[in-house]
Amino acid sequence: MVFLALPDTAYESHLRDYFQTTLHHCRQGTLALVEGISSTVLRQQAHPDFSPVGWHLGHIAFTESVWILEHLAQQPCPFPDYQTLFAADGLPKARRQQLPSLKMLLAFLANIRQRTLAYLSVAPLTEQQRLWHWLIQHECQHSETISLVMALHQLQGKATPLRYPIGGQSGERSTTMIAIPGQSVCLGLDAGHDSHIAIDNEYSAHRVEVASFQIEPTPVTCEQYQRFITANGYRQRQWWCEAGWDWLQVTQVNQPLYWPTQDLAKFRHHPVCGVNWYEASAYARFVGKRLPTEAEWALAAKGLASKLPTLLQNGQLNCDHRLGHTSPVGLSAQAVSDYGCYDLLGNVWEWTDSWFRPYPGFQAYPYQGYSAVYFDDRHRVLRGGSWATRSWALRPSFRNWYEPHVRELFMGFRCAL
Ligand code: AVJ
Ligand code: FE
Repeated sequence: MVFLALPDTAYESHLRDYFQTTLHHCRQGTLALVEGISSTVLRQQAHPDFSPVGWHLGHIAFTESVWILEHLAQQPCPFPDYQTLFAADGLPKARRQQLPSLKMLLAFLANIRQRTLAYLSVAPLTEQQRLWHWLIQHECQHSETISLVMALHQLQGKATPLRYPIGGQSGERSTTMIAIPGQSVCLGLDAGHDSHIAIDNEYSAHRVEVASFQIEPTPVTCEQYQRFITANGYRQRQWWCEAGWDWLQVTQVNQPLYWPTQDLAKFRHHPVCGVNWYEASAYARFVGKRLPTEAEWALAAKGLASKLPTLLQNGQLNCDHRLGHTSPVGLSAQAVSDYGCYDLLGNVWEWTDSWFRPYPGFQAYPYQGYSAVYFDDRHRVLRGGSWATRSWALRPSFRNWYEPHVRELFMGFRCAL
């Protein structure tokens, strides 16, 4: 294949360097997750809602081949045999366990990547940059799913945790609620020089009015949540919404998924992790509070977006597997919003009370199925990212979405009033 390279403007060559470096670092992190993985953990489904780790690896490569090689470079798919297996709409999740070996999956990733880099050297990036940014964030999100699937295997005793969590009290912070005056807040990613990084559901940035409210300075900790458990909160109908109570009757759950049963003292100040929307809102009702809306969460995060590059550079956020686990809340004194809220970025995703709905002016990108099919008033918005969120998918405006029964992601919450 022959490409005609045009002379680079300074901007184009900046983009070329940026994508080359970022693709490389993003991939290094993805591969580090599966180093030394057992064949069981690679292939077995750990939970009906999630595909096996190996499927995510193949899907990352497949998606890169679809959007960069086929769509941008107009090259035919180099591995048509993988199409059905690794397309998101190819096979039901339970049938994704007959996978190539790790060696073959890694070769698939490397083969596609080599072609991608060859094309990158001649691609007209000024016009294409949004798709390249999207692709990197796509890999980030699947690598977080890989992390949660591996955590499920650990819970089921099929894998041993690689790193042990840090404990300590260094993060102890006030629990007094913060009063935030009513005002308008920007939802979505503010159009600016880096607006190309926005995912379709972050468009269009728009202002909404928020009435005055109070919000907790940190996510709910294990110590706080423990009171709900010991007060028999999981057995008392009055804290639960109808769907939540039904879920509880079927599953007979009595504690969060990643609850530190053996080590509660050590995890006292860690955020609760592995609760679904039903559990989060039941706890909030138990303490006479509620979950914040997406707009309230965004307002509480005011001032963080501009600090983000420095926080990432200085390693002051618990994201990107830096610690390999949750950390005590408020551990990073610098990672604080203008209103004094800690842990909004990294540590645990935070449930909000808002349905995942389109912002005004929404346009699906790069395909209808990315966000638009989930605007069904069955998915709630989560904000802020977790300890396993890769840095390229971490920002205050990033919206994640899951159905209210899902508790497998590294998800917690903070209360509002
Ligand atoms: C936004 C994390 C819910 O993994 O299902 C990846 C992201 N979409 N490939 C998911 C996504 C297509 C999505 N979440
Ligand atoms: Fe995907």
